[in-house]
Amino acid sequence: MNKLKTRIYQLALGRGMQVPPQEIEASLAEVVQYLWKRGGWSWLRGILLRRRFKRCGGRLFIGKNVEILYPRYISLGRNVYIGDYTTINGLSREGLWLGDNVRIREHVWIQATSSLASLGKGLVISDNTYIGPRCTIGAGGGIKIGCNVTIGAAVDLLAENHNFANADLLINEQGVTRKGIVIEDDVWIGNRVIILDGLRICRGAVIGAGSVVTKDVSPYTVVVGNPARAVRRRTSKLRPPALQEPTLSLRFSG
Ligand SMILES: CC(C)(COP(=O)(O)OP(=O)(O)OC[C@H]1O[C@@H](n2cnc3c(N)ncnc32)[C@H](O)[C@@H]1OP(=O)(O)O)[C@@H](O)C(=O)NCCC(=O)NCCS
Repeated sequence: MNKLKTRIYQLALGRGMQVPPQEIEASLAEVVQYLWKRGGWSWLRGILLRRRFKRCGGRLFIGKNVEILYPRYISLGRNVYIGDYTTINGLSREGLWLGDNVRIREHVWIQATSSLASLGKGLVISDNTYIGPRCTIGAGGGIKIGCNVTIGAAVDLLAENHNFANADLLINEQGVTRKGIVIEDDVWIGNRVIILDGLRICRGAVIGAGSVVTKDVSPYTVVVGNPARAVRRRTSKLRPPALQEPTLSLRFSG
């Protein structure tokens, strides 16, 4: 019975997604009900709407009340999941790319352009990356997120700052600066983290819940707090730290 449950679960998750190795505790009926509730209508919506995108590499799941603006600027890999009540505005200079098995949960807000006078750069989210519920991704300066990145709930990625040096003018009349954010492969970002513009979060880093990241984070380093400070390094039995070079395999194979 467990084999059957695992098989159904694996089919629903799609190629490249791992079913957890332990036994599935839920009954077969519960597994089917869960998969239908999470994926059924979303899968049907995906079939109806996939042609509106610039490209779509395979299965697409779109939740209820999802708002997609300028889908012609958005390229999708296969098996992309977009959760209920999420808003994605594709308008940008380089477009938005969501790789294979990218999962974007409920109530996420993604935008690169806040004013038609100056288009933002765009966004790449690479394969197998997870974006938790209620995240805010402002990709004006461009945001690149690597493979196998896990981003918790209510995380803010803010790739833009308002200029405010001149106190004689309104802040909203002084324009913006944009540098961009890079998050390399295999990073875990806890809930309610804020990442400011111009930063690179290197491969294998972990960012504790509630942290405000104001400086680059080195490879395999755990940072916590506001402002975020390093508390330890993750160790590897296979590779000495010197070999743990930052590598970013941003990939879009759809
Ligand atoms: C960062 C984290 C992974 C723990 O890492 P860790 O290496 O095991 O860290 P430790 O628990 O040993 O804590 C090290 C120090 O950092 C502090 N610390 C840990 N997490 C912290 C956080 N989120 N904010 C501020 N300080 C934190 C600890 O109090 C400790 O301080 P001390 O040395 O003065 O006692 C964990 O605390 C965390 O924040 N997890 C995120 C949970 C989450 O968001 N889950 C959602 C799922 S996506």
